[in-house]
Parts: sequence; structure tokens; C-alpha cells
Amino acid sequence: MKTVRSPKELKPYSDSWRLKKLRVAFVPTMGALHDGHISLIKLALEHADKCVVSIFVNPTQFAPHEDFDAYPRTPEQDLEKLKQAGANLVYMPTEAAIYPGGTQSRVSTGPAAEGLESDFRPHFFGGIVNVVARLFDHVRPDLAVFGEKDFQQLMVIKDMVEAEHLPIEIIGAPIIRDEYGLALSSRNAYLSAPELEIARTLNRVLKEADSTKSAETALLEAGFDKVDYVAERWGRRLAAVWIGKTRLIDNRPYP
Ligand code: PAF
Repeated sequence: MKTVRSPKELKPYSDSWRLKKLRVAFVPTMGALHDGHISLIKLALEHADKCVVSIFVNPTQFAPHEDFDAYPRTPEQDLEKLKQAGANLVYMPTEAAIYPGGTQSRVSTGPAAEGLESDFRPHFFGGIVNVVARLFDHVRPDLAVFGEKDFQQLMVIKDMVEAEHLPIEIIGAPIIRDEYGLALSSRNAYLSAPELEIARTLNRVLKEADSTKSAETALLEAGFDKVDYVAERWGRRLAAVWIGKTRLIDNRPYP
């Protein structure tokens, strides 16, 4: 498994794979890898001959008051996990490699970006399509895998691929949960033991509540400090909640 840091270093790999007509999958990540990410790589390798994984904590998807600086960075452990998972190439670009001429975006978001996350993090999907379009340009994959935990993100990426006519198949991967039903997330690392117990009720409330309103009430009763939203869209019930300083999102099929 090789690690490269710039589009120039990446190119010989993608060129030689293309020449050999190999199918290339791409899994973009921000590192702090857990079993959820590993499941994306496994799924990618079921659909392709080679798998490129990027690790880049993307500044443009964080607002100034958000957790960009605190976001967990565990490169050594990540590389070990990627090796075990069978990734072929790791792309760990510098900020200059991704944003050489500044962070101005050349792509915009489509209808899936409206509402939900955007009501609370207006910068978020703009930053995501900005970085993902650039990563796609560098990696030039045949397919890319995104987790369904960030369900709206998956829909936003599908919009972008369609609008930009990119020849890239987008595959959604099922959410991986711990034994209590908590969706795995790099941000779970922020939770204290009592907060973790509360977090573990999120999926059950989303499953059992009769309506989005009763889900909101049940979440506050379960100990969440704030509910940004509970909503139903794309055949899913989706939520974003706060415990202390940690914001968690989750979703499940609905009805
Ligand atoms: O889901 C993530 O980890 C990020 O939003 C992504 C897709 C890697 C873009 O920075």
C-alpha cells in the first residue's frame, strides 16, 4: 500500500490502472477511521479491482466556530487499518494540493442540499462538493463509496455527479452501528461515558417514535441537550442532535 500527497504523485497509479483497464474505486474520508470506514473499503473492493482512500480534513466544510482544529487526527492508526483492509493507495493531500489557487468552488450544490443540515450548517455542503469534485478530479475513479450515515451528503454527491455529468458510479454503504445501535462516527470519540449512554438511545427513538414531533420530545427526555431536526425525506427518518458540545446525526429507513 502506497501513500501519495499530490495529484502529480497520484497520476502514475491512476494512469497505469486505466491502461490495464482496471476498475478503480474511491473512498474519501477525513481520517480517524473506524469500522464504518473499513466497511466502505470492503464494499468498494467488491465492485472494483483497486481502491484509493483519501484522508483529508477539509477546512471548507467547517464553519469558523466548528471543530476543525479539534477534529481527531490519527494518521498512523489510519494507515495500519487501511493496510489491513486491503486499500491499494492512500491519498493524503496537503491543503495546497487540494486548494492550489484558493478555496473558491467551481461546483454548486443541487436540490438535495436544501434544508436539514443546511439550515444549521449553511457552509457545509458547499464545502463538501468543493472538495469532493477536486478529489474526483485527482483520483478519476470509476466508482466512489459514501456511507449512508451521512444520508443527505450521499444525496448531495449524487446531485453533483449528475449535474457535472461525471462518469462515476456513486454507491451508498449501509450504516455500521455498535452493539447498542449507535452509528459509528469519528465524533463519538468526543463523548464522555454518560454522554455515550444517551447517544445510544438515538437510533431506538428514531425507530419507535410515532411522529417527528414525538421523536423530538423523546430525544429531549432521553437526555439530548438540543434537537436540530428530526425529519422524513428520501424514505428515511433523519435527525441531528446535540449532547453537550457534540453534534450527532443518524437516520434509518422510514416508514
Ligand atoms: O464524509 C466525510 O468524511 C467527508 O464529508 C468527505 C466526504 C470525506 C468530504 O470531506
